[in-house]
Amino acid sequence: MPTNNPLFSMLMTAMLFGATAVLADVTPTQRPGQAAISSAHELATEAGFEILQAGGNAFDAAVAVSAALAVVEPESSGIGGGGFWLMHRAEDGFSTMVDGRETAPAAATGDMYLDENGEFVRERSINGPLAAGIPGAPAAWVHITEHYGRLRLEQNLAPAIRLATDGFGVDEKYVMLMGWRGEVMLQWPETAAIFLPNGQDLNVGDRIVQPDLAATLERLAEHGFDGFYRGTTAERLVEGANAEGGIWRLDDLADYQVIEREPITIQYDEYRLLTAAPPSSGGIAIAQILNLIEPYDWPALSRTDQVHLLAESMRRAYRDRSLYLGDPDFSDIPVQRLISPDYADGLRSTMRLDRALPSSFLAADPDLIEESNNTTHFSLIDADGNIVSATLTVNLPFGAAFAPPGTGVLLNNEMDDFAAAPGEPNAYGLIGFAANAIEPGKRMLSSMSPTIVLGPERVAVLGTPGGSRIITMVVLGILDFFDGHGPHSWVSKPRFHHQYLPDEILLENDALTDQQIEDLESRGHEVTLRERPWGNMHGVMWNRANGTLEAAHDPRWTSGGADVRTIDASHTVD
Ligand code: GLY
Repeated sequence: MPTNNPLFSMLMTAMLFGATAVLADVTPTQRPGQAAISSAHELATEAGFEILQAGGNAFDAAVAVSAALAVVEPESSGIGGGGFWLMHRAEDGFSTMVDGRETAPAAATGDMYLDENGEFVRERSINGPLAAGIPGAPAAWVHITEHYGRLRLEQNLAPAIRLATDGFGVDEKYVMLMGWRGEVMLQWPETAAIFLPNGQDLNVGDRIVQPDLAATLERLAEHGFDGFYRGTTAERLVEGANAEGGIWRLDDLADYQVIEREPITIQYDEYRLLTAAPPSSGGIAIAQILNLIEPYDWPALSRTDQVHLLAESMRRAYRDRSLYLGDPDFSDIPVQRLISPDYADGLRSTMRLDRALPSSFLAADPDLIEESNNTTHFSLIDADGNIVSATLTVNLPFGAAFAPPGTGVLLNNEMDDFAAAPGEPNAYGLIGFAANAIEPGKRMLSSMSPTIVLGPERVAVLGTPGGSRIITMVVLGILDFFDGHGPHSWVSKPRFHHQYLPDEILLENDALTDQQIEDLESRGHEVTLRERPWGNMHGVMWNRANGTLEAAHDPRWTSGGADVRTIDASHTVD
């Protein structure tokens, strides 16, 4: 078992449950009394606390943080993107995943990114409006506010509207990622005028003011769903997208629907993990990896053995991801089979402690392109013990790098998360087949893995951006939590990753010693050191035994905001 407690044994079952019924037995019995928020930007964290102080609950605050991130971290998520909001309600133990994933437009076709010779043309699936799915984020904000919040939408969106109107100074991450995507954005002068106000001469601290986005947010605040998906905003989005090669129709927007999904629930001894359901691959892959390592006497293993076994488990989970996973509303995903311990037993019979199994025994060998720190995650607990773990994205940094004129809505390029051609790797080197083929109205497969771990004493809330590496980062964070550590440790732990193809273990610089790397190589692993670290994990922990909250942001980036505060109990909801 991956824990230092030798009694921490067996009982590794992974099942899908009816959310309400199952979670009643782990409902927190006491309130934290304080609130904790960790997000990728201190202004977004402030927006969340502002809403809590105004009488909002965690779900209101989650809307405020999401909308603020859309303004101040446009490289990672936005009103033109989507995400998954995993939520746990304290009063009755109810948990749900709000799926605001983008959908393929009705005019999308399986060959839309292929040229006349049937060759995949990557630029089409990542740059400009043809790359964009129909946004889900604004519908999710409306849905969460209406069904779970205590405040009005206009209150929850007020901090974001203020930030868009007043502007914010760009940080190091924004500048670095614009260095990659700026060339593409400069093709569209109206978009570049917003996000690159001085052309390519962009420096930390330069101010980005977004009046069009403020007006779009105001229409959403005033009219709810219709304020974005119908009327002025919808018309401008469709007209602007299609003028530059998009295929959107007004009905694509009007027909968009948020879906609530039962989280993948994994019972791990005394811990209950709630994590992302399809169309995310995250929860299933996390369950598979934990199932695969479960029988090993973890404390007795060397560090090299642990990394080897985790890499072998990751390899198999990512193989299954590519073969089986996609939008559950379009194909039958064998969820129960994939997350069952019996299935893991079978897979484990192909694992050896002394040798790596080459992925080439199983499929072709695509290349992985440079990873980026797009996508964003925040973790949040309010004073009553309501919890939100949310991972949001526009896919690559600054999404499609295009905003339809007069909207300020930077479109996502989430269509690249579909398998554009069977076995063709996406921007993260991930391959896929029929279950994730492009179809009108379908949600593209994701790796986003917002996670909540409910224990009798400690509760962990965590997640991270990082494309294909999200899942393995979350697994490493969960294992660290099982080992008794808090969020400062989860977010800073050195990372390693295997994703089946390409067949290599990726390492952050300080993850292993030279000797450990040599040992892994002698077992047949290719080990690749990445100079740049990856991920941007944000975690909070509630220790119910001693009544404390902790919040931590990833030290790899400077702009994160993590704090624990007492919320003034005298606040009122107007
Ligand atoms: N676009 C990244 C993901 O959804 O996994």
